Amino acid sequence: MATLEGFRVRNFGVLKDVTLGRLWDRQKTEALTPMTAVIGKNGVGKSALFDAFGFLADALKSDVEEACDVRGRGGFERIRTQGATGPIEFDVYYREHGNARPITYQIAIAADKFGRPYVLRERLRQKRKGQKSGQPFSFLILNNGSGAAWKGEQAGHQIDEETEDSQLLLEFIKAEESRETEAIELNDPRKLGIATIGALKQHPRISDFRRFIERWYLSYFTPNAARSLPLAGPQKHLNSHGDNLGNVVQFMEREHPRRFQAILKKIADKIPGIDQIDTEKTSDGRLLLRFNDKSFQDPFYAQQMSDGTLKVFAYLLLLEDPTPPPLLCIEEPENGLYHKLLETLANEFRVHATRYRGGSQVFITTHQPYFVNALEPKEVWILEKGTDGFARIRRASEDALVNNMVEEGVPLGSLWYSDYFDSR
Ligand SMILES: Nc1ncnc2c1ncn2[C@@H]1O[C@H](COP(=O)(O)OP(=O)(O)OP(=O)(O)O)[C@@H](O)[C@H]1O
Ligand SMILES: [Mg+2]
Repeated sequence: MATLEGFRVRNFGVLKDVTLGRLWDRQKTEALTPMTAVIGKNGVGKSALFDAFGFLADALKSDVEEACDVRGRGGFERIRTQGATGPIEFDVYYREHGNARPITYQIAIAADKFGRPYVLRERLRQKRKGQKSGQPFSFLILNNGSGAAWKGEQAGHQIDEETEDSQLLLEFIKAEESRETEAIELNDPRKLGIATIGALKQHPRISDFRRFIERWYLSYFTPNAARSLPLAGPQKHLNSHGDNLGNVVQFMEREHPRRFQAILKKIADKIPGIDQIDTEKTSDGRLLLRFNDKSFQDPFYAQQMSDGTLKVFAYLLLLEDPTPPPLLCIEEPENGLYHKLLETLANEFRVHATRYRGGSQVFITTHQPYFVNALEPKEVWILEKGTDGFARIRRASEDALVNNMVEEGVPLGSLWYSDYFDSR
């Protein structure tokens, strides 16, 4: 399973420079855990952090210009940290599987003199097999859409940071062009190089990385979307808004009846009355999602069900997806849920995230101490706004006292509730 070990964001809204977990140049820092939760007051940047993942996924799917405009982001200048003049930058540090050598991806996005966003720089690097020390080797270097990529699993080039951006470097790469090296010239400055080059078989590492980001799942679930009437037809995965909930039920009923029964049992334990969920096809080919309640003769349809019921059901379906995404991001999963469900839900997320095979890494933002009660200090990151107006982040486990108290049985959420995490 591919895992994200660290993530750095620069010049993205309130996130002027924020790092979570390990990076290629921060090897001493502990990597992200299978489950990560970000907490903090209003306006500190939780949504911005969630959106940084969303922005990167959107940029890969379409291009950086579209990513700046969609989902109400409002364009490059609105997104970029106020007062900053440098590019928006993301660093992703990840492993394709448990014992793979980690890979670093770096991207910088700037705007031209007409304000149009474009990809200024892209870089992928990895150490060679058996390489203990020294810098990792770059296997993709693009500056303004031109540069080089190294084929296969091993090749690459060690580059002195000083010369990274210079024309000299690119000339050197081109002169060195060989069986392993390929000069790259992209014709659309808004498209990510990994999107184009990652489609080529001779670049397996770039393809794997592209697929890793492509498969991130960001939940934009709304109960109303789950109430829509999709056309019938089984679908494997819940989409990001959740408007194909019925289609996923059709798929699970047919292909994974045992898993589906397990979901029904879980939902019956959590929400009074529900004992069966199934689908019904209308005569015009649409799909109705039916909830059967023991106390009533006729079923209720999704359109009549409560927001919280639909939400819990959608989460349970996500967690039982037989081929889950590598990363699952959910903003404030607690909204609309009964407070006593939250610890159970947090535990279910963790069970899913730590599954030996077939789980997703989980990234959550939350306001809910009950949810945080189920978490360990190294899973919790505290965002706050500094006096300069920019976000700062720290890991709850950086405070030895917090670790001690949690070890002695004080739940993390209650420490937070009693303002223990406020900057002192
Ligand atoms: N371009 C920008 N540069 C600097 N700061 C910005 C920029 N755009 C927005 N902000 C600040 O970032 C904040 C947005 O943060 P965000 O929405 O991520 O907060 P949040 O932690 O999700 O809060 P909530 O708990 O209310 O959802 C805004 O309130 C604003 O102060
Ligand atoms: Mg928010």
